[in-house]
Amino acid sequence: MQLRLFEPGDFLTPKEASDWASQHLGKKVSASNISYLINYGRIRKYGENGDTFISRKELTQYYNSFNGKRETHYKTKLGEDLNWELSFDQYKEAETTKHVHRLHPYKGKFIPQLVEYFLDDHTDDFKKEIYFHEGDIVLDPFCGSGTMLVQANELGMNALGIDISYFNSFISNCKVDDYDVQDILQQSNLITLKLKKFLLQHYTLEFEDDLLKELNIFNSKYFPSPAYKHKIINREIDEFKYGREKEKLFLPIFESLVKKYDIILKQEKSKTFLDKWFLQHVRNELDFVYEKIKRLRNSNTKGILKLILSRTIRSCRATTHSDLATLVDPISTTYYCSKHGKICKPLFSILRWWETYTKDTIERLSEFNTIRTDTKQICLTGDSRKIDLIEELKKVDKKFATLVKKKKINGIFSSPPYVGLIDYHEQHAYAYDLFGFKRKDELEIGPLSKGKGRAAQASYIEGVAQVLLNTKKYLAENYNVFLVANDKLNLYPTIAEKAGMKIVNQFKRPVLNRTEKDKGAYSEIIFHLKIK
Ligand SMILES: C[S@@+](CC[C@H](N)C(=O)[O-])C[C@H]1O[C@@H](n2cnc3c(N)ncnc32)[C@H](O)[C@@H]1O
Repeated sequence: MQLRLFEPGDFLTPKEASDWASQHLGKKVSASNISYLINYGRIRKYGENGDTFISRKELTQYYNSFNGKRETHYKTKLGEDLNWELSFDQYKEAETTKHVHRLHPYKGKFIPQLVEYFLDDHTDDFKKEIYFHEGDIVLDPFCGSGTMLVQANELGMNALGIDISYFNSFISNCKVDDYDVQDILQQSNLITLKLKKFLLQHYTLEFEDDLLKELNIFNSKYFPSPAYKHKIINREIDEFKYGREKEKLFLPIFESLVKKYDIILKQEKSKTFLDKWFLQHVRNELDFVYEKIKRLRNSNTKGILKLILSRTIRSCRATTHSDLATLVDPISTTYYCSKHGKICKPLFSILRWWETYTKDTIERLSEFNTIRTDTKQICLTGDSRKIDLIEELKKVDKKFATLVKKKKINGIFSSPPYVGLIDYHEQHAYAYDLFGFKRKDELEIGPLSKGKGRAAQASYIEGVAQVLLNTKKYLAENYNVFLVANDKLNLYPTIAEKAGMKIVNQFKRPVLNRTEKDKGAYSEIIFHLKIK
């Protein structure tokens, strides 16, 4: 036993630490909870040659810290069976959005670390078995933006995805495609040069420059930072009234610049999403860039540049900053922005975002290239309740179809839509409009538009059960199916029953608050299903 050179009583073995913490918190803290804290750098490990000691002082500090209090609070509310390891609170945003995972926004994706946890070959107190191995084939019948496909590649596994939304399959395939990065760089540079030339026909950039200068002067005068925000917090200013007043005061400056630079604001038509949600100059530029992309010969380069254009135009929608997530009304003038506490403006040109996202995409693809394995991942577009997987796969990759048929799929890792939460086609309406992809909204399971009522729940149960029944045909006999679900309505036991599967385990995962406002502790479940 190693000599303890510390303050007497301060250093504890993991067992002593778990007893001490259980007493300190008035609830059970296991030795594995303590090792989790060590493994993720929350507290330090002392000792050598296999001995482990924990400082009681550091443990106390942890339990008094934000993370520590949050863990205790969540467990008190949601139960001790909460697997804190699945909170992934140790990861920074850059890690949860690593390489190709941030090629395009998508509402409703799971984080790559969650997929890794179930696909990789580690075990712990909660995950007692290894479910998948290198070379296996994994299926995601609700593929979304392809998170599972990318992680399968990282782990040396083959994977198949299916999604009813063509644009979602497009994002997924763009993430896993193999690129000639030099070609992307060359072609995007050429398009940027052409766009810059195109911009010379108008004064949009000069207009934006001047507008920004005027806004800076105006905002420093009427919305000095941080004094203005303090006044709002202390309720010395009625934000709504003051914001409106100043918005009106700035409008003549904006209008005179619009006149000076001959800027056209709204488009004449407002029939389609593209007509309604983009200012005239933005629309002209995106049509111009898309025409150039269409002419490219390398189909992979063409695909990824389309994805960059889509990401660009998503950032250029004529909306206020606070309504970015849920579009309310298109905006064509400067406005008071409650998010930034000043007067803001919509976008009049796509150039800045196009350049930013092109650079970012190339960096992300290059990063992924350094770790990707030589395995196969494909996302098919189709209804997972009915799709003939082998036939559809044959159309795009015969060799992979033969492998799937022969070897069979080892299991599923997927997150089905939740009842009445998101309209998956609609969230990318701009891309459907621009690229002319066919929409199949009516085949989405559990869309927001159908609500959360009884009929919606019944059709959801049928839908997810049918997906399992249909895809089960392609699974190996000892399959493992993992479904991530926020099952507040307790629908999954019925779904499993209808699909002829049994739930063998449930992993309870804490979903940490994304915003300060959202204080409620809640969890989601990863259901583990097997053959009945
Ligand atoms: C929760 S999302 C999956 C997100 C994914 N795990 C990710 O990380 O990006 C659910 C997906 O199911 C798809 N979906 C809905 N109904 C479907 C159906 N009938 N067949 C196939 N996919 C469907 C939606 O389009 C959506 O992309």
